[in-house]
Amino acid sequence: MRIDILRVLPELLEGPLGHSIVKRAREKGTVEIFIHNLRDFSTDKHRRVDDYPFGGEAGMVMCIEPIERALDHLQSKRSYDEVIFTTPDGLTYNQQEANRLSTLENIIILCGHYKGVDQRVRDHLVTREISIGDYVLSGGELAAAVIADSIVRVLPGSISDETSALSDSFQDNLLSPPVYTRPAEYKGWGVPPVLLSGHKARIEEWRHEQALEKTRMRRPDLLDRLEESED
Ligand code: 6GU
Repeated sequence: MRIDILRVLPELLEGPLGHSIVKRAREKGTVEIFIHNLRDFSTDKHRRVDDYPFGGEAGMVMCIEPIERALDHLQSKRSYDEVIFTTPDGLTYNQQEANRLSTLENIIILCGHYKGVDQRVRDHLVTREISIGDYVLSGGELAAAVIADSIVRVLPGSISDETSALSDSFQDNLLSPPVYTRPAEYKGWGVPPVLLSGHKARIEEWRHEQALEKTRMRRPDLLDRLEESED
Protein backbone atom coordinates (compact mmCIF):
# COMPACT_ATOMS: atom_id res chain seq x y z
CA MET A 1 0.00 0.00 0.00
CA ARG A 2 1.10 3.59 -0.70
CA ILE A 3 0.03 6.64 1.32
CA ASP A 4 0.88 10.16 0.12
CA ILE A 5 0.34 12.97 2.61
CA LEU A 6 0.16 16.64 1.57
CA ARG A 7 0.83 19.00 4.44
CA VAL A 8 2.11 22.40 5.50
CA LEU A 9 3.67 21.68 8.91
CA PRO A 10 6.34 18.94 8.64
CA GLU A 11 7.13 18.64 12.36
CA LEU A 12 3.71 17.34 13.33
CA LEU A 13 3.84 14.32 11.01
CA GLU A 14 7.35 12.96 10.62
CA GLY A 15 7.72 12.02 14.29
CA PRO A 16 4.60 9.89 14.75
CA LEU A 17 5.16 8.06 11.46
CA GLY A 18 8.83 7.30 12.17
CA HIS A 19 8.54 5.00 15.16
CA SER A 20 7.44 1.62 16.38
CA ILE A 21 5.04 -0.44 14.23
CA VAL A 22 4.75 2.15 11.46
CA LYS A 23 8.53 2.54 11.23
CA ARG A 24 9.04 -1.22 10.94
CA ALA A 25 6.24 -1.58 8.39
CA ARG A 26 7.89 1.11 6.25
CA GLU A 27 11.29 -0.55 6.56
CA LYS A 28 9.83 -3.92 5.55
CA GLY A 29 8.01 -2.39 2.59
CA THR A 30 4.56 -3.32 3.92
CA VAL A 31 3.62 0.33 3.40
CA GLU A 32 5.21 3.27 1.59
CA ILE A 33 4.48 6.67 3.09
CA PHE A 34 5.53 9.84 1.25
CA ILE A 35 5.11 13.23 2.85
CA HIS A 36 4.97 16.27 0.58
CA ASN A 37 5.17 19.96 1.34
CA LEU A 38 2.28 21.89 -0.19
CA ARG A 39 4.50 24.97 -0.37
CA ASP A 40 6.59 23.21 -3.03
CA PHE A 41 3.56 23.49 -5.31
CA SER A 42 2.95 27.18 -4.72
CA THR A 43 3.68 29.55 -7.61
CA ASP A 44 3.87 32.49 -5.22
CA LYS A 45 7.37 33.86 -4.63
CA HIS A 46 6.81 33.66 -0.87
CA ARG A 47 5.60 30.04 -1.28
CA ARG A 48 2.26 30.97 0.23
CA VAL A 49 -0.55 28.44 0.14
CA ASP A 50 -3.29 30.51 1.81
CA ASP A 51 -5.07 33.82 1.26
CA TYR A 52 -7.74 36.09 2.75
CA PRO A 53 -11.32 34.84 2.49
CA PHE A 54 -13.83 36.48 0.12
CA GLY A 55 -16.57 38.13 2.15
CA GLY A 56 -14.08 39.14 4.83
CA GLU A 57 -14.36 36.79 7.80
CA ALA A 58 -11.44 36.21 10.17
CA GLY A 59 -8.73 33.67 9.34
CA MET A 60 -6.93 32.51 6.24
CA VAL A 61 -8.15 30.00 3.66
CA MET A 62 -6.05 27.44 1.80
CA CYS A 63 -5.95 28.15 -1.95
CA ILE A 64 -7.08 25.66 -4.58
CA GLU A 65 -4.16 26.19 -6.96
CA PRO A 66 -1.21 24.65 -5.05
CA ILE A 67 -3.49 21.81 -3.93
CA GLU A 68 -4.55 20.99 -7.48
CA ARG A 69 -0.94 21.20 -8.69
CA ALA A 70 0.15 18.76 -5.97
CA LEU A 71 -2.71 16.35 -6.72
CA ASP A 72 -2.04 16.54 -10.48
CA HIS A 73 1.62 15.78 -9.87
CA LEU A 74 0.74 12.61 -7.91
CA GLN A 75 -2.21 11.52 -10.04
CA SER A 76 -0.17 11.78 -13.26
CA LYS A 77 2.08 9.01 -11.91
CA ARG A 78 -0.51 6.51 -10.64
CA SER A 79 -4.21 6.33 -9.91
CA TYR A 80 -5.49 6.86 -6.39
CA ASP A 81 -8.44 5.12 -4.74
CA GLU A 82 -9.25 7.99 -2.38
CA VAL A 83 -8.25 11.61 -1.84
CA ILE A 84 -8.99 12.19 1.83
CA PHE A 85 -9.30 15.64 3.36
CA THR A 86 -8.91 15.90 7.15
CA THR A 87 -11.37 18.33 8.69
CA PRO A 88 -13.36 18.58 11.94
CA ASP A 89 -16.61 18.73 9.93
CA GLY A 90 -15.91 15.48 8.05
CA LEU A 91 -17.38 12.02 8.67
CA THR A 92 -16.29 10.61 12.02
CA TYR A 93 -13.43 8.13 11.64
CA ASN A 94 -13.62 4.65 13.18
CA GLN A 95 -12.05 1.18 13.03
CA GLN A 96 -14.32 0.02 10.19
CA GLU A 97 -13.08 2.91 8.03
CA ALA A 98 -9.47 2.13 8.99
CA ASN A 99 -10.02 -1.49 7.90
CA ARG A 100 -11.60 -0.38 4.62
CA LEU A 101 -8.81 2.07 3.79
CA SER A 102 -6.23 -0.65 4.52
CA THR A 103 -7.62 -2.68 1.59
CA LEU A 104 -6.89 0.13 -0.91
CA GLU A 105 -3.72 0.42 -2.99
CA ASN A 106 -2.98 4.14 -3.19
CA ILE A 107 -4.46 6.95 -1.12
CA ILE A 108 -3.75 10.64 -0.66
CA ILE A 109 -4.36 12.47 2.61
CA LEU A 110 -4.64 16.25 2.31
CA CYS A 111 -4.17 17.94 5.68
CA GLY A 112 -6.63 20.73 6.36
CA HIS A 113 -5.28 23.95 7.80
CA TYR A 114 -5.92 27.51 8.87
CA LYS A 115 -9.58 28.49 8.92
CA GLY A 116 -10.34 26.04 6.17
CA VAL A 117 -9.81 25.30 2.54
CA ASP A 118 -11.47 26.84 -0.53
CA GLN A 119 -14.78 24.98 -0.87
CA ARG A 120 -14.01 24.16 -4.52
CA VAL A 121 -11.24 21.82 -3.32
CA ARG A 122 -13.82 19.90 -1.31
CA ASP A 123 -16.39 19.94 -4.10
CA HIS A 124 -14.14 18.91 -6.98
CA LEU A 125 -10.81 17.45 -5.86
CA VAL A 126 -11.47 15.42 -2.72
CA THR A 127 -13.31 12.07 -2.54
CA ARG A 128 -13.75 11.80 1.23
CA GLU A 129 -13.73 14.12 4.27
CA ILE A 130 -12.72 12.64 7.60
CA SER A 131 -12.80 13.95 11.18
CA ILE A 132 -11.08 12.00 13.94
CA GLY A 133 -13.49 13.15 16.65
CA ASP A 134 -15.66 15.93 18.03
CA TYR A 135 -12.97 18.43 19.01
CA VAL A 136 -10.84 20.86 17.01
CA LEU A 137 -7.12 20.44 16.36
CA SER A 138 -4.85 23.26 15.19
CA GLY A 139 -4.04 21.39 11.99
CA GLY A 140 -4.97 18.30 10.04
CA GLU A 141 -1.42 16.89 10.37
CA LEU A 142 -2.16 15.19 13.69
CA ALA A 143 -5.35 13.72 12.22
CA ALA A 144 -3.44 12.47 9.17
CA ALA A 145 -0.89 10.79 11.47
CA VAL A 146 -3.73 9.13 13.39
CA ILE A 147 -5.38 7.89 10.20
CA ALA A 148 -2.12 6.60 8.69
CA ASP A 149 -1.11 4.84 11.92
CA SER A 150 -4.47 3.10 12.26
CA ILE A 151 -4.33 1.90 8.64
CA VAL A 152 -0.78 0.58 8.87
CA ARG A 153 -1.55 -1.26 12.09
CA VAL A 154 -4.11 -3.50 10.35
CA LEU A 155 -2.10 -4.14 7.17
CA PRO A 156 -1.16 -7.83 6.97
CA GLY A 157 2.49 -8.16 7.99
CA SER A 158 2.69 -5.01 10.14
CA ILE A 159 2.31 -6.86 13.40
CA SER A 160 4.21 -10.14 13.68
CA ASP A 161 1.34 -11.90 15.41
CA GLU A 162 -1.46 -10.82 13.09
CA THR A 163 -4.16 -11.90 15.47
CA SER A 164 -3.07 -9.17 17.83
CA ALA A 165 -4.41 -6.39 15.58
CA LEU A 166 -7.62 -8.37 15.16
CA SER A 167 -8.06 -8.50 18.92
CA ASP A 168 -7.74 -4.69 19.28
CA SER A 169 -10.62 -2.84 20.88
CA PHE A 170 -13.36 -2.00 18.32
CA GLN A 171 -12.48 -4.79 15.84
CA ASP A 172 -15.49 -6.74 17.06
CA ASN A 173 -17.34 -3.67 18.41
CA LEU A 174 -16.15 -4.61 21.91
CA LEU A 175 -13.61 -2.88 24.12
CA SER A 176 -10.60 -5.03 25.03
CA PRO A 177 -10.64 -6.98 28.32
CA PRO A 178 -8.06 -6.18 31.04
CA VAL A 179 -4.59 -7.75 30.84
CA TYR A 180 -2.07 -8.56 33.60
CA THR A 181 1.57 -9.61 33.87
CA ARG A 182 3.94 -10.64 36.67
CA PRO A 183 4.00 -10.36 39.63
CA ALA A 184 0.80 -12.29 40.33
CA GLU A 185 0.46 -10.34 43.55
CA TYR A 186 1.61 -6.77 44.15
CA LYS A 187 1.01 -4.87 47.40
CA GLY A 188 -1.86 -7.26 48.04
CA TRP A 189 -3.44 -6.50 44.64
CA GLY A 190 -4.01 -9.87 43.00
CA VAL A 191 -4.64 -11.08 39.48
CA PRO A 192 -8.01 -12.72 38.63
CA PRO A 193 -7.38 -16.39 39.55
CA VAL A 194 -8.88 -17.71 36.30
CA LEU A 195 -5.91 -16.24 34.39
CA LEU A 196 -3.53 -18.37 36.47
CA SER A 197 -5.64 -21.51 36.08
CA GLY A 198 -4.20 -22.64 32.73
CA HIS A 199 -7.77 -23.46 31.65
CA LYS A 200 -7.91 -22.06 28.10
CA ALA A 201 -11.68 -22.26 27.55
CA ARG A 202 -12.49 -20.65 30.89
CA ILE A 203 -9.96 -17.89 30.27
CA GLU A 204 -11.52 -17.14 26.87
CA GLU A 205 -14.98 -17.07 28.45
CA TRP A 206 -13.76 -14.72 31.20
CA ARG A 207 -12.17 -12.38 28.64
CA HIS A 208 -15.36 -12.22 26.61
CA GLU A 209 -17.47 -11.49 29.70
CA GLN A 210 -15.06 -8.76 30.79
CA ALA A 211 -15.09 -7.20 27.30
CA LEU A 212 -18.89 -7.25 27.25
CA GLU A 213 -19.16 -5.77 30.75
CA LYS A 214 -16.65 -2.99 30.04
CA THR A 215 -18.40 -2.14 26.78
CA ARG A 216 -21.80 -2.13 28.52
CA MET A 217 -20.51 0.31 31.15
CA ARG A 218 -18.46 2.63 28.95
CA ARG A 219 -19.74 2.39 25.37
CA PRO A 220 -23.27 0.97 25.22
CA ASP A 221 -23.55 2.53 21.73
CA LEU A 222 -21.07 -0.10 20.46
CA LEU A 223 -23.36 -2.91 21.64
CA ASP A 224 -26.22 -1.41 19.60
CA ARG A 225 -23.94 -1.61 16.56
CA LEU A 226 -23.12 -5.22 17.45
CA GLU A 227 -26.82 -6.13 17.42
CA GLU A 228 -27.35 -4.32 14.12
CA SER A 229 -24.50 -6.25 12.48
CA GLU A 230 -25.94 -9.52 13.73
CA ASP A 231 -29.38 -8.78 12.25
CL1 6GU B 1 -9.37 15.89 10.75
N1 6GU B 1 -8.72 18.27 11.68
C1 6GU B 1 -8.73 19.22 12.63
N2 6GU B 1 -8.10 20.37 12.41
N3 6GU B 1 -9.36 19.08 13.79
C2 6GU B 1 -9.98 17.92 13.98
C3 6GU B 1 -10.00 16.90 13.05
C4 6GU B 1 -9.36 17.11 11.90
N4 6GU B 1 -10.71 15.88 13.55
C5 6GU B 1 -11.10 16.26 14.75
N5 6GU B 1 -10.67 17.50 15.01
